[in-house]
Amino acid sequence: MSDQSMPARPEIEGLLLESRTFPPDPAFAARANAAADLYAEAERDPEAFWAARAQDEISWFTPFGTVCEWELPFARWFVGGELNVAYNCVDRHVERGLGDKVAYHWVGEPGDTRTLTYADLQREVNRAANALLELGVRKGDRVAIYMPMIPELPVAMLACAKIGAAHTVVFGGFSAEALADRINDAQAKVLVTADGGWRRGRKVGLKHHADEALASTPSILHTIVVDRLGDGCHMVEGRDHWWADVVGRQSDACDPVPVESEQMLYLLYTSGTTAKPKGIVHTSAGYLLGAAWTHRMVFDLKPDDVYWCAADIGWVTGHSYIVYGPLANATTGVMYEGAPDTPDWDRWWEIVETYGVTILYTAPTAIRAFMKQGPDHPAKHDLSSIRLLGSVGEPINPEAWLWYHEHIGGSRVPIVDTWWQTETGSILISPLPGVTTTKPGSATFPLPGVAADVVDAEGRSVPNGSGGYLVLKRPWPSMLRGIYGDPERYRQTYWSRFPGMYFAGDGAKRDDDGYLWLLGRVDDVMNVAGHRISTIEVESALVDHPSVAEAAVVGKSDEVTGQAIFAFVILKAGQEPSDALAVQLREHVAYVIGPIARPRFLLFTPDLPKTRSGKIMRRLLRDIAEGRSLGDTTTLADATVVDTIRDRTGGTED
Ligand code: PRX
Repeated sequence: MSDQSMPARPEIEGLLLESRTFPPDPAFAARANAAADLYAEAERDPEAFWAARAQDEISWFTPFGTVCEWELPFARWFVGGELNVAYNCVDRHVERGLGDKVAYHWVGEPGDTRTLTYADLQREVNRAANALLELGVRKGDRVAIYMPMIPELPVAMLACAKIGAAHTVVFGGFSAEALADRINDAQAKVLVTADGGWRRGRKVGLKHHADEALASTPSILHTIVVDRLGDGCHMVEGRDHWWADVVGRQSDACDPVPVESEQMLYLLYTSGTTAKPKGIVHTSAGYLLGAAWTHRMVFDLKPDDVYWCAADIGWVTGHSYIVYGPLANATTGVMYEGAPDTPDWDRWWEIVETYGVTILYTAPTAIRAFMKQGPDHPAKHDLSSIRLLGSVGEPINPEAWLWYHEHIGGSRVPIVDTWWQTETGSILISPLPGVTTTKPGSATFPLPGVAADVVDAEGRSVPNGSGGYLVLKRPWPSMLRGIYGDPERYRQTYWSRFPGMYFAGDGAKRDDDGYLWLLGRVDDVMNVAGHRISTIEVESALVDHPSVAEAAVVGKSDEVTGQAIFAFVILKAGQEPSDALAVQLREHVAYVIGPIARPRFLLFTPDLPKTRSGKIMRRLLRDIAEGRSLGDTTTLADATVVDTIRDRTGGTED
């Protein structure tokens, strides 16, 4: 980690200046699901604590024996138990008389709506599960899902779970190449996709990307295509099947396949510090427990709540807090297909008012984008139904926290700032509403049973008032079980930096009162609008272009998106820098990875600052990108490089 110093985040100074605290409202606390004694109960005997939760939250087909088998870094939870995740999310609710309860109020971007009750969901899931069986999918197989935010997406996920197959959802904004890589790594047999979806008032095609990917994915035998746009699309005879045909003709009945606790539920690919995305493995019982229990405790979920997590199911937030956690708790949820500014910036607030949303969970990026548009948009609507707000994906600056509190929460409701990761499966650090006194910008404390700590470079716990690295010192039920097909990379990535501890990749500070403040990534991973993108993935995409000799990418702080991608590019001999080429290179990255990875800034440079051993000095590049004065450059091979680059800054901006 020689060049990976703690990130310089000037906001921390600001954070410490924001000293207001928000104690729980006594009326809220009196009805809260969580109670302060959970922390002590969990600390006394963490395994007994999780075992008791696993009994309460999950309907088991076969009871489990051992609570946790821990052979560092490999964990197995609830060993010997058998369950079915889809049964827990759908069928059991119908069996106990909740068939008419709404599971999802779905809102399409053009204004079309659909309502799915638990009975509807059961019928749809069963038909989709039978369709997968007809196409040859069996327990243990992988199914890739590449879809817009339409109800068939959670249905497809649950259909996999119903028959014991694992899904891998690929965010609809990823490119054909990114889709193909993930399908090939997972060796998926079937792809579930759609002709396209709506985004910012336009039809956005998906199937043509899928077709391009399928040219290099021999494991895929069939696809199922939802007709969302109604314009028809290219279909390959024998391979591609319309959802309405292949799902529509199936029986409404499908028995849940019992699986072991450790059966893989899904794979979700995420960026790390190399160019190859990691297939994060989540299994059935521990994951379901983590998602369901935290959903009920952290959001204080009650049976009559209308809960809206405004994320995309293509990311882990949607997996845990649109699909598995909420459905396991028989929640009535809202799902919205489109963009927050379509047709106007009050779209979300109109949805909140229409459905009487009581709990809203979103990312700081969205909050900052709303802030920029001003409080008039939310003020146009009655938001008095809201009783709790959540934040996730990146550090929330106190200013955004306070704006959210005032303009969305009417200065009345608790905010839960929830820290977690794709790898952790469920929320690990968060206030418990009704219990925890919050501070704007702090995720506060680890949840009961979670052994989070902040350590120094030697792995020693730091005292209050100090910063360091966030680690987890004990396994937890919803933890990743590994990186698909690569146990060594799993060990190296997460368990080698501090022996015996899981290293999350984040810097953190513990203040004088012991509150945790997350400070962002300390590795070469950027957080752009709450999405993890690795610098090296973007660099590889740039170098993949025939004009590029070398590239280095860093995150530059951005008012709205947290970070923006800044690329330094060295062209091959004979290539001339130009605005047109800069545009082409940005588009090339969008083509290779997806539009979310398109660099905002691109600077052509004759050279890059490197150490004598040839390592790119990203810290210096970050300083240049931020326009900061430069630190020590004595380890540079050629100190003049920095001046040359700096002379050119400005570069071309998107
Ligand atoms: O850096 C942390 C940041 O998001 C990373 C995890 O990204 P991902 O796996 O895509 O999952 C995002 C949604 C759970 C973390 O390593 N992060 C997430 N939540 C917070 C956060 N940073 C600060 N505060 C948070 N509440």
